[in-house]
Formats: sequence, C-alpha cells, structure tokens
Amino acid sequence: MADNKIYRASTTAPVNIAVVKYWGKRDVQLNTPTNDSVSVTLSQDDLRTLTTASCSASYPAGDSLVLNGESFDVSGARTQACFRELRARRAAVEAADPSLPKLSTLPLKIVSENNFPTAAGLASSAAGFAALVRAIADLYELPDSPSELSIVARQGSGSACRSLFGGYVAWRAGTKEDGSDSMADLVAPASHWPDMRALILVASAAKKGVSSTSGMQKTVATSGLFKGRLTDVVPRNMALIEEAIKNRDFAQFAEVTMRDSNSFHACCADTYPPIFYMNDTSRAAVRAVESINEQAGKTIAAYTFDAGPNCVVYYLQEHESTILGAFAGVLGGVTGWTANGV
Ligand code: ADP
Ligand code: DP6
Ligand code: CO
Repeated sequence: MADNKIYRASTTAPVNIAVVKYWGKRDVQLNTPTNDSVSVTLSQDDLRTLTTASCSASYPAGDSLVLNGESFDVSGARTQACFRELRARRAAVEAADPSLPKLSTLPLKIVSENNFPTAAGLASSAAGFAALVRAIADLYELPDSPSELSIVARQGSGSACRSLFGGYVAWRAGTKEDGSDSMADLVAPASHWPDMRALILVASAAKKGVSSTSGMQKTVATSGLFKGRLTDVVPRNMALIEEAIKNRDFAQFAEVTMRDSNSFHACCADTYPPIFYMNDTSRAAVRAVESINEQAGKTIAAYTFDAGPNCVVYYLQEHESTILGAFAGVLGGVTGWTANGV
C-alpha cells in the first residue's frame, strides 16, 4: 500500500470506583473474574485518561505506547490481547467492504496521559485500558457496542470493562469457558441518581508495592476467608447494592459499600504472606466517616478503598459542605483531594 496517510482518533475515559469489588481471577489468560462487581463511573472533570491512537504505513514496524511521556512496553499479554482483538474486528469490517483502507495491517502508535497518579489504587488501569480500547475502536470505526468493547477492555484490565459506561455499572463474571459473556452492563445511568458525589483523598500518590494483578492471584491461592467472600459475601452484596441503586437508598448503598471494602481488605490481610494496602491515613479516614455519620444521626458518607491507601468517600450533594468541612481538619496525611460528580 503506497498510502502514507496517518489515521488518528483521540478519546478520554473516566475512572470507576467499585462498591462491590472485583478481586480474583477465574482464568488468568482470559482475565475473567471469580465474582461479579459493581462500580460508579466518575465524571471526567477531574480524573481521566486521554489517549490518541494512530496508525500509518509510514510508521516503523511494530506497535508502540507512550504513557505519561515515557515509552511503555507493549509486549505484555494483556496489551497484545487488546491489539489482537481490535485488529481482528477491523479485519472483519475490511473483509466486508474491500474499498476500506487496510488499517488492521498497519503499526499502531498509542499516546496516553493520565491526569492523576498511575498504579496508586485510583483505577488508572481502568481508565487507561478503557481509553486505549475506545481510541483504537474509533480509529478502526468499529460498529461494536460498549458491552462488546467491554469484553476487549476486560482483557487489558478487568476493572476497565466498567469504564466504558457512565453511571452505575455491573461487570457480570459470566460462565462461558471462552470469556465471551464476561462483560459490563449498565445498572442505571448517572441521571438516575445524579446527586451522588465521590470525594477522593490522596494518602499516597506512590506506585503500590503489590499490583492488583498479582495481589488478587495470591489471595485466591492462599486465603481461606476468600472462599466465604465468593459464596456468601459477594452474592449478598450484589443483590443489596443493585436494590439500593434502584431505590436510591443511600443508607443501604453506603453500608454495602463499606462492608464490601472491609471484606476485600480482610481477604488481603488473610493472604499469606499478608497484603496491606491501607495505611494509618486510610484508617483515620474510616474513623472520620464513622464520626460524620454518628454526628449526623444517619449514614450520609461511605468510605471505600481499592488496592491502595487512597480513600474514596461517597455522599450526596446535599451533604457536601458537611463532608468537606469534616475532612478539612482531620487528615494530616492527605496530600490532595477532589470532589467528583458521577
Ligand atoms: P491502578 O490501581 O492504578 O489501577 P494497577 O496495578 O491495577 O493500578 O494498574 C496499573 C497499570 O495499568 C500500569 O502499570 C499500566 O500497565 C496500566 N495503565 C495505567 N494507565 C494506563 C494508560 N493510560 N494506558 C495504558 N495502560 C495504562
Ligand atoms: C481493588 O482491574 O486493576 O480496584 O484485571 O489484574 O488489571 P487487573 O486488575 P484491576 O483490579 C481492580 C481491583 C480493585 C477492585 C475493582 O476495581 O473492582
Ligand atoms: Co487497576
């Protein structure tokens, strides 16, 4: 092909913070999970990934990725799986319409930037792989729905499948051997419960010591407590959280969110050797939320922690001044914060 044109598409993707956590892989190669999960996708006003995908016959051979200004290895199985799946879908489109340029054969160049800490427990892999998949899908002009693309994003990072939707999102673990039913779907759009807010307290922006990928595999292999999480805790929390979202019942939403975060971190502590993602500042944030709720005489705030020390507090807009006021003086270890909408 003599055409040296550069084809390009850019997109942004938001982070999502799980309220019923994904922790555990059923199949490591396919990156399917041991359990269903539910998250809230935050608005892109504060935390987001911006990714540009381009391809051209004029590029040197081989795909490349620049993340936050530094060249990033694309030879990993997860990134390769995303490239392979998206190329196959483009090849099918090209086969159906031979007049289209053969983009599926060209080297891909991906340039991505996170405007928040990477690998610090603030869901950079979720926004990062959601943006990567959508940027390439846009470049290739694929007809796939968000749920279909979520199957591809899941293979990059599990939590990424949920960032292809806004609002309240479930990732159904699925039962098929090939992972073709392990995808995200919408529980409710953001407009269903638009006054939900998430306060993000940064206790450390440093890269975590144990990645989510390796941490969860160690938990599955060694934790006895984890078995009860799968058979008992998660099925109960999934039913309760979907009901709470449907009814806009904040107290129920909050209790399930806090209990599920506690259950996940208890399983991390029960991993052998134990994994500790939360630190003293994290625990101070838990106490602050408890005291906010005690003083309010009802549950108006809910904490949750991903695989890192940083705290996310869910609350409703009407309580914003109470929540921000309460946190203003309390947390010595907090280095930054943002109040985010859904
Ligand atoms: P986090 O808690 O931030 O999600 P993880 O350990 O789950 O941390 O994942 C971090 C990894 O996600 C990074 O090392 C990188 O491989 C990948 N990642 C993060 N941001 C991007 C991005 N914008 N584009 C592609 N991959 C990304
Ligand atoms: C604690 O999606 O980062 O944030 O699939 O190995 O990339 P990989 O893991 P990742 O794990 C997220 C774990 C969590 C909970 C959640 O987001 O559901
Ligand atoms: Co992650």
